[in-house]
Amino acid sequence: YGTADEASAAVANEIAALIRQKQQEGKPAVLGLATGSSPKKVYAELIRLHRKEGLSFQNVITFNLDEYYPMQPDALQSYVRFMKEFLFDHVDIPVQNYHIPDGTLSMEKIREYCMDYEKQMELHGGLDFQLLGIGRNGHIGFNEPGSHENSRTRLMTLDQTTRVDAAMDFGGLSKVPRRAITMGVLPILQAKRVVLIAWGEHKAGIIKQAVEGPVVESVPASYLQGHHNVSVVLDESAASELT
Ligand code: F6R
Repeated sequence: YGTADEASAAVANEIAALIRQKQQEGKPAVLGLATGSSPKKVYAELIRLHRKEGLSFQNVITFNLDEYYPMQPDALQSYVRFMKEFLFDHVDIPVQNYHIPDGTLSMEKIREYCMDYEKQMELHGGLDFQLLGIGRNGHIGFNEPGSHENSRTRLMTLDQTTRVDAAMDFGGLSKVPRRAITMGVLPILQAKRVVLIAWGEHKAGIIKQAVEGPVVESVPASYLQGHHNVSVVLDESAASELT
């Protein structure tokens, strides 16, 4: 797409069509959602569709990709706060329908919690649609370089690049948490449909590696090359290094 705005509207329209189709079938639409700067306009367009075109989220169930650890849900940088501010508080999704990894758990409870997070997704029939951004280091969710294709939902140590990119939000690198809970690569790849979005020149290099490079664990987004129903949605700048 020429611009991130056009691209975001197209992605929001696909999500809206899925929600409406599932509504007609009397089924829930199960969405995997991302935070960060990339999806903001997609969520803004979904809110517009809710307000102006009667798109209802009553049948929508969501699972977010990740949350910093440790993290209080009401903290400024929490992904719970992000999702409420940029989507959930502005649409009619029932509170019990959205799931975001819990950054307040004690360490010994995390393993079981992560297994349960995946189980909840399975109980709802798995993800119909997974929205992804991409880190400058090729991470998807917080599956950092080195993550295995079969990795499960888990506590992950954040890469230096990821922490540097988050430093502004936290008011300094030293304040960025060293870890996060992330949905694994495997459950992401199990989604029935995956859409990865990226805007801007600073993503062009990693997009080229992920899309045209070999499938390698140093670029976790490259695992998507093996998915049967994936689209990479870009603006012109993010696509500028593709051959
Ligand atoms: C966020 C997430 C991350 C981001 C990625 C890109 O939930 O899972 O993988 O999608 O770091 O972030 P932005 O969009 O801020 O460039």
